[in-house]
Amino acid sequence: MERKKVTVNDLLEMKRRGEKIAMVTAYDYHTAVFADRAGMDVVLIGDSLGMTTLGYESTLPVTMNEMIIFSKAVTRGCKKPLVVGDMPYMTYQVSIDDAMRNAGRFMSEAGTGAIKLEGGKHMAKTVEALVKVGIPVMGHIGLTPQSMAMLGGFKVQGRTAQAAIDLLDDAIALENAGSFFILLELVPSVISKVISERLTIPTVSIGSGPDCDGQLLIFHDLVGIFEAFTPKHVKKYANLSGEIENAFKNYIRDVKEVNFPTAEHSFKISEEEKKVFLDLLSKREK
Ligand code: KIV
Repeated sequence: MERKKVTVNDLLEMKRRGEKIAMVTAYDYHTAVFADRAGMDVVLIGDSLGMTTLGYESTLPVTMNEMIIFSKAVTRGCKKPLVVGDMPYMTYQVSIDDAMRNAGRFMSEAGTGAIKLEGGKHMAKTVEALVKVGIPVMGHIGLTPQSMAMLGGFKVQGRTAQAAIDLLDDAIALENAGSFFILLELVPSVISKVISERLTIPTVSIGSGPDCDGQLLIFHDLVGIFEAFTPKHVKKYANLSGEIENAFKNYIRDVKEVNFPTAEHSFKISEEEKKVFLDLLSKREK
């Protein structure tokens, strides 16, 4: 049966019937097509593209215009998955007006089906305003990379009893504000299990254990392109960095040794045209 476009309501339904939700990040057209063909449920254009694709040292320099360019490529490639645009740093924190304008750009210019923003209780009013105008909002709590300066690094969150209660309160506040989905990043499994059980809306884990309603991996981690280190929560399903490097090395060797291109990769003209061409050439050069 032809798979249909995944909607926000489908994700709620999947939670109800206990079907896990598969989610990955994508930043370009071809990755989006592969995710679509493979049957991914949700695709996130994360502001992690700042680090994975643009080579920035953090996500903070990523602009709204950059997000829109990459998001357009991803939505062109994703026919079935729900596509979520990640609101970059300071495009929604200053005012609800900013949040509306920028979330609206994801929906109208890039064609995403939802947006994601970081933060719990303190973002509830913004979430409520966006949902009221018909923009589905995915929440993101736990480790929130845009607050790295406060958090002091990529650290597991909610490790004390009070911090865990605060996370639960954040999740409940986001659900009450109308979020359809909540991402829990680097939260201990026991806490994310409790949060997932207390919510009606689905949760998705990145480094938050198996008991969330779905799982998210960053594309570059999943296919083994990111090499600097392998975070504990990552499972590599391929080793593309090795494959790509080998392909490049073989190509360089073939070029240097004139093994590429061969006749197979080259274009011909008819013998007749060749003869005329050589006659013309010799007359010109006399
Ligand atoms: O930008 C992103 O890809 C994210 C993930 C870290 C969850 O927000």
